[in-house]
Amino acid sequence: MFDRLKLLLEKAGNIAGEKDPDKLIPMLADLAKSILEADRCSLFLFDQDRNVLYTLVAHGGVRIEVSPDKGIVGAAFRNKEPLLIPDAYSDPRFNPEVDKQTGYKTRNIIALPLIDSRENVIGVFQVINKHGGDFTDEDMQILQLISVYASNSLESSRLYAKLKSAYRETVLRLSHASEYKDQDTYNHIVRIGLMANLIARKLGFDQEFCENIQLAAPMHDIGKIGIPDAILLKKGKLDPEEWEVMKTHTILGYDILKDSENELLQMAARIALEHHERWDGTGYPYGKSGEDISVEARITTISDVFDALTSKRPYKDPWPVSEAVKYMKDLSGKQFDPNIIETFFQNLDEILKIKEEYKD
Ligand code: C2E
Ligand code: SIN
Ligand code: SIN
Ligand code: SIN
Ligand code: FE
Repeated sequence: MFDRLKLLLEKAGNIAGEKDPDKLIPMLADLAKSILEADRCSLFLFDQDRNVLYTLVAHGGVRIEVSPDKGIVGAAFRNKEPLLIPDAYSDPRFNPEVDKQTGYKTRNIIALPLIDSRENVIGVFQVINKHGGDFTDEDMQILQLISVYASNSLESSRLYAKLKSAYRETVLRLSHASEYKDQDTYNHIVRIGLMANLIARKLGFDQEFCENIQLAAPMHDIGKIGIPDAILLKKGKLDPEEWEVMKTHTILGYDILKDSENELLQMAARIALEHHERWDGTGYPYGKSGEDISVEARITTISDVFDALTSKRPYKDPWPVSEAVKYMKDLSGKQFDPNIIETFFQNLDEILKIKEEYKD
């Protein structure tokens, strides 16, 4: 038992980081098969709408659907009960139809219900035909450990995917809510996120960074929510006093975002604070320069300015792309990080595709 548990822990450790259920579930099925020394392993999930149990991982690679009202798998599902069946064909609950379909001869079976955190049965873990013998209680216990892991993982990866997409949308909607007054469109903030993601990828940052900046960059102007409309919506130049107020949108945004422990919001806080700093130290609010400005802010600035220049604002008409490009190139090493601006323009085709796809 000790050796098998050790093997289980080792192998489970290797797959603990996998969040994609399409990859995770086959890994768990392989794990069960090898530790139990079984011939086949299937993982059935319950589809409520159609009232069937279908295989996510099927023995022999054939997708199987069974009724929850029939067979050993159905019994384990309905009764929320683990079953160890030493001789399938002498058990009246066994449903030989699957064998008929697959041409496979089932001898013995372990079938375990997969139970989620709310005690709902979400599927069945099934292992068939112990190599050269019978399944033991120990096999059952080990499969129980794996199945707890399988249902947890399955549940958390489903939750994670749901959470992530809900979260994405919330962030985008909130960012938009903070900007809608000065007529920035929802597409403007989507574009800034996509452009920042693209540049980050081209600069070689990892996937997590790129996903984070895609959501964090759109929050850069969230502090504008605290700027009076008379200033924000003014059609024309701001006077010096108004300008001082406008500049505080950086610090206001930082204050809104800074207290969270969430990595994404911390990144967003740095971007809000630093997106008007300049490479040569002449920006605001603090006059930081060079690499003292976070790289996420240096990336966001370039996306923001390019998109602002080429879009309509209450105080200006859109510039043609060629003029925006020339203007920004001249500011390489002054307003913008020279390395990032170069990467940006090397990939202008893809930037313009984003502009086109999400135009106002
Ligand atoms: P925004 O409209 O989102 O512009 C973001 C940044 O894009 C600006 O940061 C600036 O770097 C660049 N940008 C946008 N339009 C122009 C332009 O016509 N010419 C040039 N040279 N650069 C441009 P900046 O300057 O720090 O401004 C921050 C925010 O302050 C702007 O965000 C906008 O909300 C506001 N703002 C700036 N200038 C004016 C203005 O003349 N009138 C009004 N009503 N608001 C202004
Ligand atoms: C897993 O799917 O095993 C990990 C889930 C998570 O950490 O979100
Ligand atoms: C059963 O559930 O009775 C058999 C299913 C199978 O052989 O896969
Ligand atoms: C979260 O923090 O809950 C999700 C983060 C992300 O979407 O990257
Ligand atoms: Fe800003």
